[in-house]
Amino acid sequence: MFSSRLPTDLEPNEFTTILQAKKAAGVRILDLTQSNPTEASFTYDFLRTGNIPGDIPGRYEPSAQGLPEARDAICRYYQGNRHGSISAEDLFLTAGTSEAYGFLLKLLTEPGDEVLIPAPSYPLFDLLATLENVTPVRYALKLNEEGRWRIDFRSLELMISSLTRAIVVVNPNNPTGSYLTAGELERLNELCRIHDLALIVDEVFLDYINPQDRQKPFSVITNRGALTFTLSGLSKILALPQAKLGWIHVEGPAALKEGAKARLEFIADTYLSVGSMIQQAAPALLNCQQEIQSQIMARIRANETALRSATTLPHLHREGGWYAILQLPDHIPDEECCLELLERHSLIVHPGFFYDFAESNRIVVSLIVPPEEFSRGLALIQEYLESRG
Ligand SMILES: Cc1ncc(COP(=O)(O)O)c(C=O)c1O
Repeated sequence: MFSSRLPTDLEPNEFTTILQAKKAAGVRILDLTQSNPTEASFTYDFLRTGNIPGDIPGRYEPSAQGLPEARDAICRYYQGNRHGSISAEDLFLTAGTSEAYGFLLKLLTEPGDEVLIPAPSYPLFDLLATLENVTPVRYALKLNEEGRWRIDFRSLELMISSLTRAIVVVNPNNPTGSYLTAGELERLNELCRIHDLALIVDEVFLDYINPQDRQKPFSVITNRGALTFTLSGLSKILALPQAKLGWIHVEGPAALKEGAKARLEFIADTYLSVGSMIQQAAPALLNCQQEIQSQIMARIRANETALRSATTLPHLHREGGWYAILQLPDHIPDEECCLELLERHSLIVHPGFFYDFAESNRIVVSLIVPPEEFSRGLALIQEYLESRG
């Protein structure tokens, strides 16, 4: 009856079963994976004071690419943040970045084709590909001798087959926080040219750089070395996942770019999925970027300082993004650690395997958790690890 694209086993796993039982018994759970910004005690005054239009427009003006005023505002966002100068003609609005992936997989693939996705990375990409009848194939990111995650091109090239259609890059990656380097982009462009592939670059966390890091990150938004789709949206830029506004920007060699835009227009016109209200609100909302981003940056800084100064927990270097990766002693596997933290301390952390880390001694926590909870959670992790010797 049901499609094989969907998982056959939808039963809760051991972790979820324990969590559900605790919640049912009224136990207070401390969630160090909380990355929903609307649940993280930030102040959203700008939603009241920012002159955001909120009325349902009386007329419906369907537009496949999205309303010009919203796309113009996105161009100003890129220009204002010195990410690059782009044209509103090359932008397509979507109902969130996840939908943008769906559109691109429809544009680029046949059922059974493959897309390359980084490992470790966010598990969502796997699901999005599978739901489009596409096989996700992982290439490795590896820690180099400076403690930075970089693309392992040997692994990536090995994974390219006659079925590969696109390479997904996350800049900065979730959860490693690693940005693409100029050298990596050059090599990706070359591989895309040789193998006739498109580049899909997810930049939802682009603005959340670590100011202590000496590397200068950049957006690929103006990359012309390959057919390049850059994705982002209000979910992270304004910490408004409920806004459901994302976008795709198309750049690349002229003929490929025009071919892609004409077909994307067809796909977007079929769905017309982005609500008019959010499109009309986008210009005023994007003017408020600093109000929310300054709070998030301050939160990340405070939590990272707590991690460094109030604990002895080993953790990896972060170039950007919202996550910290903690390193466990080799004798404590990530899954066991997560289950025991939940059972003993009612504390949620993510196991590294959730993100496809090659190593089994990594756990991931969100850096936007309110500081008091974050510090309490870290103390519990430290206590647990000391008890394990
Ligand atoms: C790297 C990355 N891309 C995309 C998404 C999904 O974004 P959206 O809420 O715009 O669908 C997420 C969600 O957390 C993410 O971490």
